[in-house]
Amino acid sequence: LNISLVGVPLDYGQSRRGVDMGPSAIRYAGAVARLEAIGHQVTDTGDIAVPTGERVGQDQEGLKNLDEVTNACTDLAERVASLTKAEEFPLVFGGDHSMAIGTLAGLSEKYDNLGVIWYDAHADINTEATSPSGNIHGMPLAVSLGMGHEQLVNIYKDGKKIKPENVVIIGARSVDPGERELIKELGIKVFTMHEIDRDGMTSVMNQAIEYLTAKNIDGLHLSLDLDGLDPLYTPGVGTPVPGGISYRESHLAMEMLQDSGLLTSAEFVEVNPILDDKNGTADVAVGLIGSLFGEKLL
Ligand code: ARG
Ligand code: MN
Ligand code: MN
Ligand code: MN
Repeated sequence: LNISLVGVPLDYGQSRRGVDMGPSAIRYAGAVARLEAIGHQVTDTGDIAVPTGERVGQDQEGLKNLDEVTNACTDLAERVASLTKAEEFPLVFGGDHSMAIGTLAGLSEKYDNLGVIWYDAHADINTEATSPSGNIHGMPLAVSLGMGHEQLVNIYKDGKKIKPENVVIIGARSVDPGERELIKELGIKVFTMHEIDRDGMTSVMNQAIEYLTAKNIDGLHLSLDLDGLDPLYTPGVGTPVPGGISYRESHLAMEMLQDSGLLTSAEFVEVNPILDDKNGTADVAVGLIGSLFGEKLL
């Protein structure tokens, strides 16, 4: 593959500093060398410009740092759209999960029927009306489905960027009341920790891939929040939730995605090296990237 890396040093979508250093941490953990060793052609296109310095923490209509998140996501959407146009595989490093608004907006330029796997402890489907925190990293799925503040919904292009029936959430174990309602209303496919425990990751991934294949998707995006894994393995995240997906299950999930041959883009988000133990979370991210892109033991 021709893989183009994009870093998004964004921490305005939540309230704990340090996740803006995620892209550096993932690069430091050896992402480029790992991909090249598999035989991929890798170009690092660098980071999206995000303002640094003491932030004001502006609250706009129940949304924290609305303008900062909007600007970064707009730039990211443009970068991702130009990469898909150049037939490059976009691999995006974050940064807090609000950045997915930009990634999905950019992908919507090429894909009309994109499948999305949301690997996360959370559903990230709040709007400013249901959010308990005002943190935009809890809203990117809702925004991409056309719900929420119009400034976010209309990033890059007006309106929704993906279809609810093309979304599969895997690993959910912390869902807010308003999110639960919206998931039911939209009929979104969710494999919670209950299904993973009961059926096993092999079955869950087979079901997810079959479900998306039946939708005739024209591309598949993986949005992987490192907090989807149990904090035992990935402590360097801002909103850890115990009882998560294991290291082995996650590698298996990545290998099965690779074997499906469906993947057309991916993002690894919420790596916060300040909260981490010796950059271990970025190390796990790079290991998962290896499995996702075809690393084989033998
Ligand atoms: N549901 C909570 C909220 O909306 C937590 C969201 C966590 N999201 C994340 N991308 N880590 O505030
Ligand atoms: Mn910052
Ligand atoms: Mn999460
Ligand atoms: Mn998330």
